[in-house]
Amino acid sequence: MSLGASADGKITLHRDRILLRPEHRRVWASLSQDDAGPPVEQRLDVQATLEGSGSLVDHDAGPLTGLPAPTADPAELHTHHLPPSVVDDPARRYWFAAVNGRGRVRWQQENPPGWAVLVLVCRSTPLDYLQWLRQRSICYLVAGAEQVDLPSALDALGDELGITRLASTAGGSLNAALLRAGLIDEVELTLFPALVGGADTPTILDGTPLGPEQLPTRLELLASEVMPRGTVRLRYRVSASASASASASASAGD
Ligand SMILES: NC(=O)c1ccc[n+]([C@@H]2O[C@H](COP(=O)([O-])OP(=O)(O)OC[C@H]3O[C@@H](n4cnc5c(N)ncnc54)[C@H](OP(=O)(O)O)[C@@H]3O)[C@@H](O)[C@H]2O)c1
Repeated sequence: MSLGASADGKITLHRDRILLRPEHRRVWASLSQDDAGPPVEQRLDVQATLEGSGSLVDHDAGPLTGLPAPTADPAELHTHHLPPSVVDDPARRYWFAAVNGRGRVRWQQENPPGWAVLVLVCRSTPLDYLQWLRQRSICYLVAGAEQVDLPSALDALGDELGITRLASTAGGSLNAALLRAGLIDEVELTLFPALVGGADTPTILDGTPLGPEQLPTRLELLASEVMPRGTVRLRYRVSASASASASASASAGD
């Protein structure tokens, strides 16, 4: 996962201010003082980024409304939709994958050059939304029943599209779910010289708290870099053995 955060770990200005909105993005971008370097897809040499719907719509937004009633067979709508016109497009270099199990995101027609959208949905995603994606030739993968099953979704990314290097650039809720599912192997944090505060403001890692038997995930520092204007970039490997041995000690009552 790769995130930009204030020194106090906040990843936006306020729970109600998603950085997609230009007025909030401007303020957020000013925190880095042009110090952040090349974009993540180049920096980490990934084939895809992964976002959550929380970065793309307000946190209280519901499923899209006013879509035409589904006419296609549900079984067909529940199969992956990967039109060759998108998958095999020689101009496409990167996938912008997004977890969107509730069908909340209204995709625009135009993607930035070189990018294609890949929506991760599940069997409870509204059928009218799936049909709407198909009518717009927007790719989607179906994984899970009530919500997107993250391990299955990542498997499908590899099996269907050959994606083996992916960076989650999502917010704290999705990153926490990925971490708890054991799906994060590296963490890149870009810390801006600023403080935001706010108990309810999204952070690097939100989601469910540690359970009574769970211990923090240990990290091994791989690299650190201090930029000229005070931004700090840290790169860690998630240390499976450290967290496993800590759990073993805890269960042995140490
Ligand atoms: N500074 C940065 O680098 C940065 C990066 C990203 C975001 N942000 C900011 O952070 C805020 C959004 O963060 P957030 O934490 O509210 O949103 P988020 O990370 O997008 O989390 C919500 C997403 O996680 C999915 N999700 C959560 N738990 C899950 C689970 N157990 N299994 C499967 N999917 C799960 C949800 O799925 P459904 O859609 O299916 O419900 C939804 O797509 C926004 O303000 C955004 O601007 C900042």
